[in-house]
Amino acid sequence: MAPWVKTGGLGDVAGALPAALRALGHDVRVLVPAYPALLRAFPDALEIARPHWLGGLLPTPSLRQALAGDGTPLLLLDYPHFFDRPGNPYLGPEGRDWLDNHLRFGLLSRVAAWLGSEASTLDWAPDVIHCNDWQTGLAPAYLAYRAERRAKSLVTIHNLAFQGLFDHAALFELGLPDEAWTMDGVEFYGHLSFLKAGLQHASAISTVSPSYAREIQTDAEGMGMAGLLRHRSAQLSGILNGIDTREWDPARDRHLPQHYGQRRLEGKAVNKANLQAEMGLAVRADLPLLAVVSRLTEQKGLDLFLEVAAQTLALPAQIVVLGSGAHGLEHGWTAFAHRHPGSCAVRIGFDEGLAHRIEAGADIFVMPSRFEPCGLNQMYSLRYGTPPVVRATGGLADTVIDAADEKHGNGFVFGPATGEALFAALQRAASAFQEPTLWRRLQKHGMARDSSWREAAGHYVELYESILREAS
Ligand code: ADP
Ligand code: GLC
Repeated sequence: MAPWVKTGGLGDVAGALPAALRALGHDVRVLVPAYPALLRAFPDALEIARPHWLGGLLPTPSLRQALAGDGTPLLLLDYPHFFDRPGNPYLGPEGRDWLDNHLRFGLLSRVAAWLGSEASTLDWAPDVIHCNDWQTGLAPAYLAYRAERRAKSLVTIHNLAFQGLFDHAALFELGLPDEAWTMDGVEFYGHLSFLKAGLQHASAISTVSPSYAREIQTDAEGMGMAGLLRHRSAQLSGILNGIDTREWDPARDRHLPQHYGQRRLEGKAVNKANLQAEMGLAVRADLPLLAVVSRLTEQKGLDLFLEVAAQTLALPAQIVVLGSGAHGLEHGWTAFAHRHPGSCAVRIGFDEGLAHRIEAGADIFVMPSRFEPCGLNQMYSLRYGTPPVVRATGGLADTVIDAADEKHGNGFVFGPATGEALFAALQRAASAFQEPTLWRRLQKHGMARDSSWREAAGHYVELYESILREAS
């Protein structure tokens, strides 16, 4: 949950959607593990409950209440042994999943269900529990198997690739009944899957773009869940994410050396020169500067970009990469940058400020994702006057319009997941960059796009209301 804990886009969504829903008049509270950053930010958060007898090997945590700066009440799930750990919320120091992830996120799911059940001791009861990704997938299952009077639930899929798979033994440790171990329960090809449990038992399912909602119902892109998703297609919808337009606004971004806007685009040049200097690149206004800010994983297709990176520099162009993840990609990109000093710069790590300076300083943003449920960086890029080059998939296809469309074009779109197809699009982008009138038009179309959360929040409210109507 940005700004405290973030490994990717879900952090941005959790940080911004609740406030947008509250602005529409709804009483939204966020249940979030009390990670170190949250404990530091809210040292005085008062205990409001101690949910106990949660079943299996689940411990008794403390629920503490805090108030986010935007007025959203947070329910901090405090159990230091599980959550007060340094580093990544999901991975241990060697980059592997924490061994007790089933208990950690089982507890999160179980307490969510507790809040929606009669066992809750709070004076506040939610109508709908909105669960996000596998970490909360068991909440609808707990509600289905255990609770008497219960809240309805929505499961939002931010990424179908992460399914929360564990051994059969977890069933007992999590306090789930034996009867849950079936194909229409929590079992998934011999494993217990948190996500499958959620998709099976939630009142409704959503994902973060209309295209991804269609794609995951096909065997090719459904990652083993397509059959179930097709079966539930009447309850499955796609709602495109918004972005936090206060955090991501070139006219007042606190991370930028120079602010700019649609009518004052000159300021972007200052950001570019600054970024080139910061990253040790040649300070050249005439070369297109191509950028990546991303988790370095198979999903993001950055192996394709690496494949054509040398050709790309020869266009000519410069490349800047900020990211972390798979060792092979980290190493491949770092080695490439060493061979091309002054033209390619790579920073391995997670750096919020640099991510903003890259969005502002780059000319072209590159996202060749193999699949992309929504993607936020292409929306930041549009808003920052940095036309994106994207593969036509998921949320990328729903937000980026190819330059071939003169009236609406805001970027460059390609089809096949190959280095060749990517390079052809990069070439088109680099030559358009040399045509100021065309480039301005692309930038303007992108910057004028309304990416605020208001519309998405409205769609979520309609969905919550339809869930409650169906149920009554
Ligand atoms: P995903 O959630 O699949 O990683 P998104 O595009 O939805 O992809 O969101 C990624 C978010 O994480 C963006 O806000 C992006 O700026 C941020 N991000 C990713 N990698 C880094 C990094 N190395 N440093 C800073 N921010 C990053
Ligand atoms: C996931 C997806 C990304 C999406 C984000 C927020 O991490 O990979 O495409 O934007 O969640 O919904």
